[in-house]
Amino acid sequence: MNDAEAASVVLHNVNKTYRLDSVDVPALKGINLLVRPNRFTVLSGASGSGKTTLLNIMGCIDQPNSGDIMVAGTAVQTLSDDALSDFRAKNIGFIFQNFNLLPVLTTFENIEYPLIMAKVAPDQRKKRVNELLDAVGLSDRANNRPGQLSGGQRQRVAVARALACKPRLVLADEPTANLDSRTGTAIIKLMRHMQRVDHISFIFSSHDPKVLAEADDSFEIRDGRIISVKRNDDRDESVA
Ligand SMILES: Nc1ncnc2c1ncn2[C@@H]1O[C@H](COP(=O)(O)OP(=O)(O)O)[C@@H](O)[C@H]1O
Ligand SMILES: [Mg+2]
Repeated sequence: MNDAEAASVVLHNVNKTYRLDSVDVPALKGINLLVRPNRFTVLSGASGSGKTTLLNIMGCIDQPNSGDIMVAGTAVQTLSDDALSDFRAKNIGFIFQNFNLLPVLTTFENIEYPLIMAKVAPDQRKKRVNELLDAVGLSDRANNRPGQLSGGQRQRVAVARALACKPRLVLADEPTANLDSRTGTAIIKLMRHMQRVDHISFIFSSHDPKVLAEADDSFEIRDGRIISVKRNDDRDESVA
């Protein structure tokens, strides 16, 4: 297996332009990058630099205007819509800045939701949800709705939900932006633990110094272009 096949994500000359009221808004301009597997990778950059657009394209929830994308060794642009949905459900988990939990569902049900979508049998679902509740320290909040939880607890539910189907890649868009500093640190530690135990690749967008400090690799983006790449090889012990 060569580097590109083993990588979590490879982008080659990816361009994305939004069209807003008949005006073209270029968001990504010729992005080339290789995200190594089983790392904490951070995309940093000011607001409006293109981080969310880039994450959405890596997560196959948005498509570029041009360029090639490989995710976990698969050329995702060659997949049909159904195959792509299936690929995404099996391989990719998402964590959002504003948690995006379903307000009418309990903690248990929010975590269970992707398992229902993936047609996992009820007894298996229950087992997996309980395992995740335990891992994120929310077993005693299983029956609460998001409105009854703190921000940090909501984000822990979101982390558990993202990991429910044992994805290979988890994308997190500014996951600590709406959390106080202590809670943000706890969430980063939790994700780092899960990355090491479950060998998951995490890709964050963030300008939080706590997240940047924890990064193995980081890409800085400005006006839709990657302007610097840092790879921290001191942490190679965490690679499977
Ligand atoms: N849906 C959209 N329609 C039009 N322009 C958009 C849309 N989403 C993002 N943009 C523009 O694309 C650029 C990059 O945005 P974004 O990826 O959200 O950056 P970041 O996440 O770094 O703040 C910005 O100029 C933004 O205004
Ligand atoms: Mg953003």
